[in-house]
Amino acid sequence: MKKITIAIDGYSSTGKSTIAKLLAKELGYIYVDTGAMYRAVTLYTMRNLFISEGYFDKESLVRHLFKLSVHFERNEESGEVEVFLGSENVEREIRNLKVSNYVSQVAAIPEVRKMLVEEQQKMGDGKGVVMDGRDIGTVVFPEAELKIFMTASAKERAQRRYLELTERGEDVTFDEVLENVEKRDTIDTTREDSPLVQAQDAIAIDNTHTNIHDQFHTILQLAKDRIYGRI
Ligand code: DC
Repeated sequence: MKKITIAIDGYSSTGKSTIAKLLAKELGYIYVDTGAMYRAVTLYTMRNLFISEGYFDKESLVRHLFKLSVHFERNEESGEVEVFLGSENVEREIRNLKVSNYVSQVAAIPEVRKMLVEEQQKMGDGKGVVMDGRDIGTVVFPEAELKIFMTASAKERAQRRYLELTERGEDVTFDEVLENVEKRDTIDTTREDSPLVQAQDAIAIDNTHTNIHDQFHTILQLAKDRIYGRI
């Protein structure tokens, strides 16, 4: 059976990873969460005190990048793929609001992007991959057979994220989460290197008012049309 590359781009908390994971499972494809890679580099940056409130020593980060290794491993118990910084599983730590607050600044550094994009291209080399991020359909795999661009209102996305964080026991307010979502949108869409934009040939999907699981079936059909050559 023909294998394709599926690129799922869009704003934060639009359900990209939920859809991408379901698609990968259904099709037997590899799932790559590229946001987790940028988050892992951000965690490293924070731990080394290269970044803090109002301060970012980009040069030091760039100088230390060669030491960094970010990779994924499957958790045999949960079946989920988890991200590692060197030999340390950082899957949980990278999801907190502190990392979210700095990640867009780190992701705007061209050297960071270059390193991670090369890694991502290697992972998707043999096709049969569902990758979610911001620049997958535009930069990482411009030749992807299926490109989806997901959007939803900032308020709805902040609400989803707020529920996710509080369910995990994080001490945050809705306003803090909304501010983070809006700030990240601005940085992600206006940065010079690979800004978040919809690829010309991407299919836009807004899920402000729709159930993500219903949309999954629509997207699965789009993928099957391409795999079986109906498109
Ligand atoms: O998908 P996420 O919210 O975990 O992504 C975290 C941040 O990483 C996001 O604010 C922008 C950045 N990112 C990026 O610049 N390029 C990608 N391919 C994926 C994420």
